[in-house]
Amino acid sequence: MSILLTGGAGYIGSHTCVELLNAGYDVVVVDNYVNSQPEALRRVETITGKKVTAYEADVCDKAAMDAIFAKEKIEAVIHFAGLKAVGESVAEPLMYYRNNLDSTLTLVETMVKYGCKRIVFSSSATVYGAPDFSPVPETARLGCSNPYGWTKYMIEQILRDWAAAQKDVSVVLLRYFNPVGAHPSGLIGENPNGRPNNLMPNVLNAASGKVKELKVFGGDYDTPDGTCVRDYIHVVDLAKGHVCALKYAAEHTGSEAINLGTGVGYSVLDIINSFERSTGVKVPYVITERRPGDVPSYYANPEKAAKLLNWHTEKTLDDMCRDSWAFKSKNPNGYEA
Ligand code: NAD
Ligand code: WQD
Repeated sequence: MSILLTGGAGYIGSHTCVELLNAGYDVVVVDNYVNSQPEALRRVETITGKKVTAYEADVCDKAAMDAIFAKEKIEAVIHFAGLKAVGESVAEPLMYYRNNLDSTLTLVETMVKYGCKRIVFSSSATVYGAPDFSPVPETARLGCSNPYGWTKYMIEQILRDWAAAQKDVSVVLLRYFNPVGAHPSGLIGENPNGRPNNLMPNVLNAASGKVKELKVFGGDYDTPDGTCVRDYIHVVDLAKGHVCALKYAAEHTGSEAINLGTGVGYSVLDIINSFERSTGVKVPYVITERRPGDVPSYYANPEKAAKLLNWHTEKTLDDMCRDSWAFKSKNPNGYEA
């Protein structure tokens, strides 16, 4: 029996492949490589010394998904596949709704056909919109501010409704906070296409001299140092959370939404300081105007993950920065030679 990882060649998927293989699971990946490269999976095999079975296909493609389920014995699915750029989702909302919703419906219909009843879904803290308070519990009011976020909100609802209708189904909705970092080997990491939007890839570009300086969006927020505060989580801790979620899904039916965060908020300046301290490399930066739509501060309440999944984060902010830099230094052009 194998675990199917949709979008398993991507940033979080590839790190989860490593943790699953290390935990003794067999892994099958389906990815159309719209935002990833097959090389990531070859490196997963190098790290683990184990084999990844990979299919190049679009999860929206019913015939392709049917063929994969017919060939492989899939005991559970982790559904990472999706488009994830917030700004692009505002410019191209239909593309986001089509890809993220259609892939989920096709996947779940195929699971139903083949009697596969367990799914762990990559949701996001973005479903909380602008939270009223932190730490944010899973019971907080939901509401999104962009089409990407609404796709996560809608997919959560689709999966919850499925679990409500079919009593032997198990759904775990993992709400990630801000994933950063890379595998300590420096072999796999985040490899964004085009100009990155997220903080850590921009820190890396400034540190490596690829851009002149990091733009810090806003220095006048009502936060301890005036810059925005987020809950950054090491991608290896996050990946281990998926192994725990799979175990939970094997023992429980119904649906649960669970935060994956550290419970600690750090500011943009904290990240810069930690990066410089842990790598010895300077991050040139300039404080500019606020980025429209940014929430000043939020971080997770991770108690539910501790209680239900017996999962805790282990890595520090310095680990996140050091490991991000190791991947960037070893792979200045990402997975391209
Ligand atoms: P990623 O882009 O690196 O990985 C997504 C993978 O899905 C890519 O390999 C891409 O090629 C693949 N994919 C997309 N659409 C597909 C389709 N129709 N068929 C087959 N493959 C498809 O992103 P990531 O950072 O690894 O994120 C994984 C998941 O976690 C996404 O669903 C994302 O929305 C969610 N998430 C990410 C973050 C984050 O900050 N990275 C935060 C919260 C939630
Ligand atoms: C973090 C902080 C920026 C870039 C996004 C999505 C969210 C989730 C995670 C998927 C903010 C500041 C950033 C830069 C900066 N993804 N910043 N200079 O906005 O918290 O969340 O990614 O689900 O849905 O919205 O993450 O990394 O973009 O920003 O100063 O060049 O860094 O203002 O305070 P964000 P981020």
